Amino acid sequence: MTLPERPLGNTGLRVSLLGLGTVKLGRNQGVKYPSGFSLPDERSAADLLARARDLGINLLDTAPAYGTSEQRLGKLLQGRRREWLICTKVGEEFDNGASRFDFSPNHTRASVERSLKRLNTDVLDIVLVHSDGSDLEIIDNCGTLETLADMKREGKLRAFGMSTKTPEGGLRAARLCDCVMVTWNLDYDGDRPVIDDCYERGVGVLIKKALASGHAAVADGDPVRTTFARLFAHAGVSSAIVGTINPEHLRANVATVEAVAGTPDPL
Ligand SMILES: NC(=O)c1ccc[n+]([C@@H]2O[C@H](COP(=O)([O-])OP(=O)(O)OC[C@H]3O[C@@H](n4cnc5c(N)ncnc54)[C@H](OP(=O)(O)O)[C@@H]3O)[C@@H](O)[C@H]2O)c1
Repeated sequence: MTLPERPLGNTGLRVSLLGLGTVKLGRNQGVKYPSGFSLPDERSAADLLARARDLGINLLDTAPAYGTSEQRLGKLLQGRRREWLICTKVGEEFDNGASRFDFSPNHTRASVERSLKRLNTDVLDIVLVHSDGSDLEIIDNCGTLETLADMKREGKLRAFGMSTKTPEGGLRAARLCDCVMVTWNLDYDGDRPVIDDCYERGVGVLIKKALASGHAAVADGDPVRTTFARLFAHAGVSSAIVGTINPEHLRANVATVEAVAGTPDPL
């Protein structure tokens, strides 16, 4: 059995059901995981990426706000860029332990150019707006999505979208973007209408915090299996981005997805 792939909406990209979230490769301050951790050293990070690729994962999710994640990936992927799809973001910066947000066209353009350099590539596969929670304000008044659409036409990115924090924002973004990133886990299913809508429209859906940032994974029973069975039964879910730096968790997650991901429920 190999890890299945699904189309990312109508983008032409095919993503593995599990993507690898890379917050924990670059940032261990101001995060909400159940326990503290050290950033993996170069060898461990390289081994993690190699293992992920061997297991069939083809999607990496990063962001300027994930500390040194983009810079590290840029080095680690040298000579291997073509093996991966890379998703990064614009709008959130994390400096000296604090986040700040800038969704302006100028910052968006500069951020994409910086990500291209840091990731050592001439095209980004997916760029998402990294929302601060004011989804509708960003979509309606900031020009961020329009700038990403321009940069897609210029060939600097293949697909763009928004990582939203409200169902209203997800629904509006779905009308304007190639894909969205929304939360769905055992504690929260409020973005389910967004996923239904995206499926109807041919818009890709990436799931963040599938394991409730690790809090679900430490609950009784088999929450990882229950989570993946529920998520991948929905044909609108393209991929779940799970953040792990533990190779055994990575292997177990892929095995669980392979076991539960049959034919998705028709809507
Ligand atoms: N606004 C946004 O755009 C946004 C926000 C949040 C997240 N994200 C993206 O989504 C990704 C995932 O979100 P997340 O990292 O917050 O949460 P998550 O994927 O729900 O959970 C990650 C946590 O679960 C643990 N874990 C993973 N597999 C496990 C297993 N089999 N058993 C026990 N524990 C397990 C990991 O610890 P170990 O390292 O010990 O495995 C890690 O602490 C992020 O890395 C990021 O790329 C985006």
